[in-house]
Amino acid sequence: MRIEREGEIGLICLDKPPVNAIGVALRGAVYAALHELLDDATLKAIVIYGGGRYFSAGADIKDFARAGEQPTLPELLNAINNSAKPVIAALHGIAFGGALELALATHLRVGVTGLRVALPEVKLGLFPGAGGTQRLPRLIGMEAAVEVICSGREVSASDALEMGILNRLVDGTAREAGVAAARDVLAGNLVTSATDSLSAEPAPAVLDSARRKYNKGLNAPLLAIDSIEAASLPIDEGLARERALFMQLMEGDERAALVHAFFAERATSKIPEQDASRRDINSVGIIGGGTMGVGIASAFLMAGFPLTLIEMQEDALIRAKSAIEANLAGALKRGKVKKEIYDTALRSLRFTTRLDDLADADLVIEAIFEDMDTKTDLFRKLDNICKPGAILATNTSYLDINTIAAATSRAQDVIGLHFFSPAHIMRLLEIVVADKTAPELVATSFDLARKLGKIPVRAGVCDGFIGNRILSHYRKCCEYLLLDGAEFEQIDSALEEFGFAMGPFAVADLAGLDIAKATRLRKATTRPEQERYSRVADLICEQGWYGRKTGQGYYVYDESGKRTPNPDVQDIVAYERAALGLERRSFTNKQIVARCLTAMIQEASNTLQEGIALRPVDIDAVELFGYGFPRHRGGPMHMADQTGLETLIDRIHKYATEDDYFWQVPPLLLEMQAAQQCFADLNAAANNTTA
Ligand code: COA
Repeated sequence: MRIEREGEIGLICLDKPPVNAIGVALRGAVYAALHELLDDATLKAIVIYGGGRYFSAGADIKDFARAGEQPTLPELLNAINNSAKPVIAALHGIAFGGALELALATHLRVGVTGLRVALPEVKLGLFPGAGGTQRLPRLIGMEAAVEVICSGREVSASDALEMGILNRLVDGTAREAGVAAARDVLAGNLVTSATDSLSAEPAPAVLDSARRKYNKGLNAPLLAIDSIEAASLPIDEGLARERALFMQLMEGDERAALVHAFFAERATSKIPEQDASRRDINSVGIIGGGTMGVGIASAFLMAGFPLTLIEMQEDALIRAKSAIEANLAGALKRGKVKKEIYDTALRSLRFTTRLDDLADADLVIEAIFEDMDTKTDLFRKLDNICKPGAILATNTSYLDINTIAAATSRAQDVIGLHFFSPAHIMRLLEIVVADKTAPELVATSFDLARKLGKIPVRAGVCDGFIGNRILSHYRKCCEYLLLDGAEFEQIDSALEEFGFAMGPFAVADLAGLDIAKATRLRKATTRPEQERYSRVADLICEQGWYGRKTGQGYYVYDESGKRTPNPDVQDIVAYERAALGLERRSFTNKQIVARCLTAMIQEASNTLQEGIALRPVDIDAVELFGYGFPRHRGGPMHMADQTGLETLIDRIHKYATEDDYFWQVPPLLLEMQAAQQCFADLNAAANNTTA
């Protein structure tokens, strides 16, 4: 923060890279600066603006533990609102959260073209608790305020002007805009007002309908509405009510999990290879025009990369082309691709059946059939065709990338880029580093992921890498629960209540039961004798029921896609239970969720200990951004910390009385217990070595 003076105008410039996050130090500095400028009799108006890319990203999320230290954000903002001299906020880039609340507490808001404002606190399990729920309704009315606060959405500068959040929108720099507005105020050409002196009309019907709309299992939007309701009270009463409700959220699990998810999204980029040099990627080749190839191709085209797509059969190429066109048209409609990129994308796409056409590609991604012989054969050919230095990537989801790399004479140039279906939508990208992969490939792939809008997570080679390895363990747990007495629809609904968009059996139907069958067959010869095996899925497949694509699997689907449990599958389950001589037990939804989570945490701990995942937070990111783990639960490792090691270990011992092969306490959990550590400690320790 620095103070500047220009004639009768005092300026406070927020200058805390990278995003001017407002933590305890900046709060204190601005508070002191405000008073210094107020005490300076030569100054008649005060402008607050931001240096750098943005006005400010809001309250410092890393500093939440110190939110109560003085001056608190509400104290600072009240001081601004009560200031005897007019205070003007000049906003550019981004004014989010507490930064927009700060602006709402000033007496006039000027925006610079390109500005985006938002109150995104609900996405972090909070609401704007520094006067935002009291001041925004006073400025724009209850209905608009509820929508902005409960959605957390970004509002463009022109919309903000129209709604009354901004008083003025101009071109130029924030400083110029602020000074010009201050001069107009001093000349009497622009009127200022203290937001707290305004009043907000009660709107009970609007609030009731908002309560119904946002009743989706999350606390933050509902408490936000309660707080907004208090905006029709005198300001002091409203602010007090806001504070009390805000503190409830601040101390809750939802806030902790969502903040963890926010940082997880960013933490995964911190990798040991971050200082390695990069290779240029200007041209990309994708081999395979199936679902994965088409999705990956669409993702690259949406990011503006020229692309060559290879399919061996002409008719498959034609199908791939129309699928890509449909993906891009959908992305354009959803606003996920810019019109100018969309217009050139299809022209920059080349379809061919000749591998030789990849001779000049900087990056080649294989997305063909999941079979080791087919893949090694392809990589042998690529080794002969591709130029030196080209990156050769496989999209395998399970196979050993060391074996694939060994089929070439350039194992250092081979890496796994594991996309998730649909690849142009799903945000996760597992970057699988084989034994000989060059560090610059890893660094280049991480940069690439960001260009594609993906969240990259570094993984090591093992069966299934991070995500599918944990998934496979979790699925086994679900299958055992089914054999032991829970019905598949109960297991699905228990996990859906927990927050997954779809339970595991509904997901299996969606993915296609034949896919999982192929994996089971591949692993059949190496399956340990002690491992329980459920034949239920095999028996379903024997009927030719592969899930949604055949109209039935665990569920029967009507034309609208609505599911009802398949009674024949219920019979199959009963038959299999009888064949195994199992006595049926009942499970509560809570018990189901506890077992499933414990299974995930168990396998995740082993994945971590083997170094397949760098940090616990990488595992959470994989689950959150690739496997539909509910964001407001933070991920399995975060939940492990919330559950506590003692409880987890006790649970595993208890489950082991039924099956001591599947349920074994991971050595890492015991080591952590002895060292009195939690997964957050491991994250912090790992960051000290990779930062
Ligand atoms: N508090 C603390 N740190 C913040 C922050 C905040 N409010 N907003 C961003 N950061 C940090 C990020 O963690 C990241 O740190 P890193 O480099 O150590 O990983 C860095 O600032 C840059 O953020 P990033 O998201 O990578 O930059 P961006 O330009 O892509 O996006 C924003 C900028 C502001 C859009 C985005 O960071 C964001 O949405 N921030 C949260 C805003 C928010 O919720 N504010 C309300 C707080 S209550």
